[in-house]
Amino acid sequence: MKALRNSHGVLPTGAASFAIRSERASDVVAREALLDASFGDNRQMRTCQRLRDGQAPAQGLAFSVVREGRLIGTVRLWHVSAGGVPALVLGPLAVDPSCRKLGIGGALVQRALAAAKARGHGAVLLLGDAPYYARFGFSALKTGELSLPGPFERDRLLGLELRAGALDGAWGMIVPTGAAAPQAKPRFAARSRKLAPRAA
Ligand SMILES: CC(C)(COP(=O)(O)OP(=O)(O)OC[C@H]1O[C@@H](n2cnc3c(N)ncnc32)[C@H](O)[C@@H]1OP(=O)(O)O)[C@@H](O)C(=O)NCCC(=O)NCCS
Repeated sequence: MKALRNSHGVLPTGAASFAIRSERASDVVAREALLDASFGDNRQMRTCQRLRDGQAPAQGLAFSVVREGRLIGTVRLWHVSAGGVPALVLGPLAVDPSCRKLGIGGALVQRALAAAKARGHGAVLLLGDAPYYARFGFSALKTGELSLPGPFERDRLLGLELRAGALDGAWGMIVPTGAAAPQAKPRFAARSRKLAPRAA
């Protein structure tokens, strides 16, 4: 795998450099378009979206990747309770189809996990493909007793302890615990609805 540890690194194979930075409000249109392209029009129906509805991402844990002035990657983490155990849920994670397999997704996940750990968070959960997320240390070892508010495939519910034992005793429903997303100002909200009718 070609994942980079340096968020301002130069990509291998001569590709243009990229940067990972905190998400900005002005990213919304490009981010929505990237998520539509990556997950399809029915992405709002996904079970994990029930953990994000009306919520704000965890403080300081939403990142964008930019390359030559264009947004090409996104990831966010969200506060949840995993059967009473505080944790974060990672997602959605997406990289522009034209920029995949260059290590950008890996670098983005590593950056998000490092930031979460630096902020003192103990564990991260996600619903995703184990063959991809295993490289970051995610596994289903401690998620077998957890469930989600909707249908999901058991072997795709994965967890990573940033602090040893942080998922011990995690049992029951995963529910959102984050702060409510701030309401958009009326003028901005109208423009957002016109350009990007769905929140991610
Ligand atoms: C998953 C995704 C973010 C990876 O981004 P990326 O920048 O290509 O990731 P990297 O370059 O760090 O890693 C690419 C490697 O992961 C592998 N990979 C990508 N998706 C995978 C998956 N679902 N299962 C297993 N391996 C996968 C690639 O084959 C590649 O393997 P290689 O290193 O042996 O060539 C990107 O493919 C994407 O946006 N997919 C659509 C949205 C999605 O599925 N998001 C994840 C679920 S939340």
